[in-house]
Amino acid sequence: MTKRLWIETVGCQMNVLDSELVVAALRRRGWEPAGSPAEADAVFYNTCSVRQHAEDKVYSALGRVRLEKAKRPELVVGVLGCMAQKDQDLIRTRAPWVDLVVGPGQLHRVPALVDDVLAGSGPRIEVSLDRTAGSRDAVARSFESYDPDRDPTMRPTPFQAFVRTQTGCDKFCAFCVVPKVRGPEQARPPEAIFAEASKLVAEGCREITLIGQTVNSYSWKDGGRTTRLSDLLVGLDAIDGLDRIRFVTNYPRDMTDDLVQAVRDLPKVCHYLHVPAQHGSDAVLKRMKRGYTIGEYLEMHARVREAIPHAAVTSDFIVGYCGETDEEFAATVELVRRLQFKNSFIFKYSPRPGTKAFERLPDDVPEAVKRERNRVLLEAQAEASLAGNAGFVATRQRVLVEGLSPREEKAASREENAVAGVEAAPDRQADRVRQLAGRTMCDRIVVFDGPERLIGRILDVDVIAAGSWTLSGVLPNLDHAEP
Ligand code: SAH
Ligand code: F3S
Repeated sequence: MTKRLWIETVGCQMNVLDSELVVAALRRRGWEPAGSPAEADAVFYNTCSVRQHAEDKVYSALGRVRLEKAKRPELVVGVLGCMAQKDQDLIRTRAPWVDLVVGPGQLHRVPALVDDVLAGSGPRIEVSLDRTAGSRDAVARSFESYDPDRDPTMRPTPFQAFVRTQTGCDKFCAFCVVPKVRGPEQARPPEAIFAEASKLVAEGCREITLIGQTVNSYSWKDGGRTTRLSDLLVGLDAIDGLDRIRFVTNYPRDMTDDLVQAVRDLPKVCHYLHVPAQHGSDAVLKRMKRGYTIGEYLEMHARVREAIPHAAVTSDFIVGYCGETDEEFAATVELVRRLQFKNSFIFKYSPRPGTKAFERLPDDVPEAVKRERNRVLLEAQAEASLAGNAGFVATRQRVLVEGLSPREEKAASREENAVAGVEAAPDRQADRVRQLAGRTMCDRIVVFDGPERLIGRILDVDVIAAGSWTLSGVLPNLDHAEP
């Protein structure tokens, strides 16, 4: 009988990709997606450790699945990903009903491990070596890149895909648990990346997003030749049928001229650069061990602006980091006002066991102050975003239509709930006009009315209004839509 799998994914694009690949691997063994945890033979959580909140969510989900497991002891409960690597046995101490604990460097073993558990092996824990547990090579070998064949039906949209360029991170920012849980930085061979991209395009994919923790540190040495991210972009740009190339996340110091020029000159590469600054004060950047000063960040930003004036630069910021004073926080607000990022992801500092900051610096900014600084910075960013978006009003933009707008998605799911149990399928005909959402070449979201069949197409949209987070547009004429 077909076995059914339910998977919940927390965290970054890496996890979204890993979940897609795990599901695809199990499907090849005859598993199918379940409609709910109650219908599933296996329930997996693909987890994130970057902040405490992400871990708390998974532990409470594990609390809920305990009831299901009590009713059906044969249910396989698995914790995959970063929290599995970080907490290891502790997961089974806190939740003894968990059968499988598999770190991000061991995901290729999931199908065999599930078989083992179903055959009565008892709980299985498979993780990689700790970063201090052996030579760099030995640790790196224990984090295997997980790149099995893709299954187009497993992606949320068939016309977009993530492609991994490298695993792990070697930067060791003082606050960040990623180098610990995802292991040493290891590049994938360029040929593997090109082959995967070509296959995805042959299956109908139009947009590829390269992903790596510090994607622009990519470096592959083969004999005397080094392949860098800019070389990957040149190779991908030449793939017929591929329309858009994006890449995340960039490390400020590795934003080299060859990369900036590639983004400027290659027609398929989006003018969108996510380059987290993390903070606006040199003293805090030093405590964060980020490896650059604000002066260096400004120099990098000016170089990007000069080469590609309309590029969308985005950032991440941490507020309430160890010892952050009012003046230091003010420097972050000042940086956001000065550089007018397209948008920023703002996080309250969350101490992570296993990091330098956790070991050496007290988490001394009160939660209420973190919350207030988060609010203030968000407000500054919203103003900058609105000002940036306003410049797009009365322009025509090429937009890749990604799907229904969030508002329509909600309405559609209400309709589906309303007809649940009734014979008729919800009305989602291709010609029905809906509010759609798409993205410009510089990563701006545009919502506009159009028939559902436009999803997955690239077409012109006239922008008529701007908010902080989205642009509103109208279709000039449906004939503009290319097939
Ligand atoms: N290079 C990675 C970064 C992963 S973490 C990437 O691909 O995006 C994503 C963001 O979370 C970081 O840029 C940082 O702003 C934030 N972050 C990391 N550790 C954090 C911590 N301990 N507390 C709060 N935010 C954190
Ligand atoms: Fe984390 Fe810094 Fe690497 S934020 S992922 S250690 S570049």
